[in-house]
Amino acid sequence: MTKLLRIDASARTSRSLTRSLADKFTESWLARRSDDEIILRDVGSNPPPSITEDWIAAAFAKERSSEQEELLAVSDEMIAEIANADIIVMATPMYNYGMPAALKAWFDQVVRVDKTFTFDLARGDAPLEPVFAGKTLVLLTSWGEFGFGPGEINEGRDSLTPHVRTASGYLGVEEFHHVGIEYQEFGDDRFEASREAAIAALDPLIDRLASALELLPGARRSAA
Ligand SMILES: Cc1cc2nc3c(=O)[nH]c(=O)nc-3n(C[C@H](O)[C@H](O)[C@H](O)COP(=O)(O)O)c2cc1C
Repeated sequence: MTKLLRIDASARTSRSLTRSLADKFTESWLARRSDDEIILRDVGSNPPPSITEDWIAAAFAKERSSEQEELLAVSDEMIAEIANADIIVMATPMYNYGMPAALKAWFDQVVRVDKTFTFDLARGDAPLEPVFAGKTLVLLTSWGEFGFGPGEINEGRDSLTPHVRTASGYLGVEEFHHVGIEYQEFGDDRFEASREAAIAALDPLIDRLASALELLPGARRSAA
């Protein structure tokens, strides 16, 4: 059984384009692989707490007080969800050219020394190494503007996808896929075409990922 961790980061619970992409992804996934498990973590509706000085001290403590254990309880719970997951489906808007604060709070809580990464200066100028390996991240985005690619009108302004990609490396993500909607703020034909293209990209991606997992017999039939 494959486990998917679905993370929703939109502050909107209605009319959210990223939540609708994640709905379609998880529905199509379960249509092919009904025995798989989907774990839900809605940071948009329930933002994790920001880390504090006490939290950092607790994270780096060699021996912890019960208060420090308590401070790390949310982090422990969310890291356990990542440890269990083969595939992370992360649905997030672009807010102010980067990730929503709630998603950044999630990363700050889960990229944690000796839990998700180790730090050893004996490794020279690259002292950080992830603890987990072999995970896949499917990033589902929506943004209001468009043209963040090379040579386009907003080149260099996308701080969302590179940040997610870099930080997720410390969670054991080795395979990265991105499907996104553009033009939301324009609401015109370009937006509709972009939304349709993003939706159309989901099934082929699911087929590729599911095939790589060596489909179960029942799932193979439903995918055919
Ligand atoms: C607070 C806020 C900040 C935003 N900042 C940007 C931005 O910097 N660039 C952009 O292209 N769109 C921006 N948008 C538009 C959203 O990315 C877009 O509406 C997206 O569809 C939101 O995701 P959702 O539909 O899942 O809620 C912003 C929207 C909000 C609410």
